Amino acid sequence: MSRITLTRFLIERQRNKQLINADLRLLIETVARACKAISNAVTKGALAGNLGSAGTDNVQGEVQKKLDVLSNEILLEANEWGGNLAALASEEMETPHPIPTHFPKGEYLLLFDPLDGSSNIDVNVSVGTIFSVLRCPKVADGGYCEADEQAFLQPGSTQVAAGFAVYGPTTMLVLTVGDGSHGFTLDREMGSFILTHPDIRIPEDTQEFAINMSNMRRWEPPVKRYIDECLAGTSGVRGKDFNMRWVASMVADVYRILTRGGIFMYPRDEKNKSGRLRLMYEANPMSFIVEQAGGAATNGSDRLLDLKPEGLHQRVAVVLGSKNEVERVAGYHK
Ligand code: AHG
Ligand code: MN
Ligand code: MN
Repeated sequence: MSRITLTRFLIERQRNKQLINADLRLLIETVARACKAISNAVTKGALAGNLGSAGTDNVQGEVQKKLDVLSNEILLEANEWGGNLAALASEEMETPHPIPTHFPKGEYLLLFDPLDGSSNIDVNVSVGTIFSVLRCPKVADGGYCEADEQAFLQPGSTQVAAGFAVYGPTTMLVLTVGDGSHGFTLDREMGSFILTHPDIRIPEDTQEFAINMSNMRRWEPPVKRYIDECLAGTSGVRGKDFNMRWVASMVADVYRILTRGGIFMYPRDEKNKSGRLRLMYEANPMSFIVEQAGGAATNGSDRLLDLKPEGLHQRVAVVLGSKNEVERVAGYHK
């Protein structure tokens, strides 16, 4: 059986479906290559001196791990020179990163969470990388895109591609360019991502939820109600038992949901008043992937992909996964 590499998958989407152009294809391949480099750095761990804190804080006031900084650098260096980008934005950088003047510029904007699940690095639990691609909306004189912060503030529904890598027992890449969500497995000997999970579908029903229960006392009533009903199991209104998982790496939790269904929630609460996860680097790309796999994603009251961002580092409440459960939670918010 001939194996479909990421390269072939993308070429076919360019040639047969005209879903992507050559610039976007190069962009996705470059991000995938950067993910392979990050995967290697994660795998080497302490042998390469990659564990522990970098001794710096990021724009959100979070302590940066060495791998947060390294992954950010890998993604920047890989993507700067291709001529397909107008600018890059990262969870780890306060302002957008312009393309150095000695490189040509292109029409796309790349956003990423270079290393998701930082708290899991030193304890050897799966981490990952999340990315989102937008088109630069403002073309100035001479055809160049004016890639200021404003240019990035587009609703998630305008994304032209999104994906994430998870560095787990296997390194996987999940990608969407708008025709379904597809999973690729890294073949380390060949150095290629191979299509192993085409057209992923999330079951519409589930008996598994993912939430950080330590925040329970601070939740809003609709979320409290939903989880209480799950916990009541066969003796409650749901009439069935629920299981719980919380990896604390969104990439791993979402990957599990893509594989066997489930609902993932990081709601707003009394402490995280706007939620904890970032709209541009986490919620939007994951919502695009989840919707393309037949799931749903909301902040409780609105579809996440419809939100008009107000800031690059804006946080948001996230409820995503199996459609019927997400709709139930949204219903409790009404
Ligand atoms: P990051 O490591 O990029 O800051 O993201 C961590 C996120 C997400 O991956 C995870 O679901 C959540 O934060 C975990 O939060 P808690 O530590 O509150 O469980
Ligand atoms: Mn993250
Ligand atoms: Mn991160």
